[in-house]
Amino acid sequence: MVEKNLDFRSDTVTWPTPEMREAAYKAKVGDDVMGDDPTVNELERIAAEITGKEAALFVTSGTMGNAVAVLAHTQRGDEIILEQKSHIFVNEVGGLAVMGQLMARTVPGELGWMKPEDIEKAIRVDNIHYPPTSLVCIENTHNSAGGIALTTKQMKADWDVAKKHKLAVHMDGARVFNAAIALGVDVKELAKYADTVQICLSKGLSAPVGSVVVGPADVIKRARKYRKMLGGGMRQAGIIAAPGVIAMTKMVDRLKDDHDNAKLLAEGLTKMGIKVVNQVQTNMVYIDYTTVGWKAGDWNKATKKIGWKSEGHGNGTRLCTHYGIEREDIKSFLDGLAKQLK
Ligand SMILES: Cc1ncc(COP(=O)(O)O)c(C=O)c1O
Repeated sequence: MVEKNLDFRSDTVTWPTPEMREAAYKAKVGDDVMGDDPTVNELERIAAEITGKEAALFVTSGTMGNAVAVLAHTQRGDEIILEQKSHIFVNEVGGLAVMGQLMARTVPGELGWMKPEDIEKAIRVDNIHYPPTSLVCIENTHNSAGGIALTTKQMKADWDVAKKHKLAVHMDGARVFNAAIALGVDVKELAKYADTVQICLSKGLSAPVGSVVVGPADVIKRARKYRKMLGGGMRQAGIIAAPGVIAMTKMVDRLKDDHDNAKLLAEGLTKMGIKVVNQVQTNMVYIDYTTVGWKAGDWNKATKKIGWKSEGHGNGTRLCTHYGIEREDIKSFLDGLAKQLK
């Protein structure tokens, strides 16, 4: 029996499974800064293997994973290319400027995808007045575009242009397994079009904490040093890495349920007159409730009354499906909401 977690605010609200709690309790541990924690080593080995990369690094969060990867690819004063609504640019506290002393060059995406010709236009030519461009950051799935899965073809097109100009590519793959499941491809097929990939274990995969960064051994070695510099060197971290092993090996296939549930939710809301504003490809439904005459307060009151957590801001909100929400829960949410609308 899955413990109910009726909370649409994010997939970060997921609780660890009973198996994860057990694994954390029993985890074999050591000092990970010394490389001695067998569970962390096992998680890093699994992450590298699953994504087809040489090495991996366990970090505390997606933000730290992106930060250490970006730092490992760049030098102070470089310019890096990012999609204009990407998480790294919008939601990571400007860490690239503060920690890396990097310039951000943003490119507007089409459903989260930067077209290669737009990337190419943004790459600096060699000129004494210009900072050098050194890195392109891709986000897959793209969160603010609506949980959109960038295809292997789109990834390859961006990779080819980056490599033509000898640039590194980092993928913020916080939800790259959602992308792989939605596209029906092995995650390796997406990971091969990025030098490094940051993957969150604590979102749809339900681990309580942590991310992994995968990539070439030399880049991961530099990222490891930056992790230490940022205070992310952990000691008996096997306790939190053990649920991560379960996340990567046992929680990926069920993401399909989240995607199916998001589609069911979107269909039901549309029938009620609530506008779904994104293409629902993965576990996110972005809505506009003003189409039924509601404001944020009405949405918040109605959802609370029927026992769900959801936070409307302005005209709408994002609803995330995840572990702890099952098909019957979506149906009863829709029934309950319909009554509130009457
Ligand atoms: C696309 C994306 N990248 C990175 C992150 C950062 O992850 P964390 O919250 O673990 O720092 C998030 C978090 O929501 C995200 O959605």
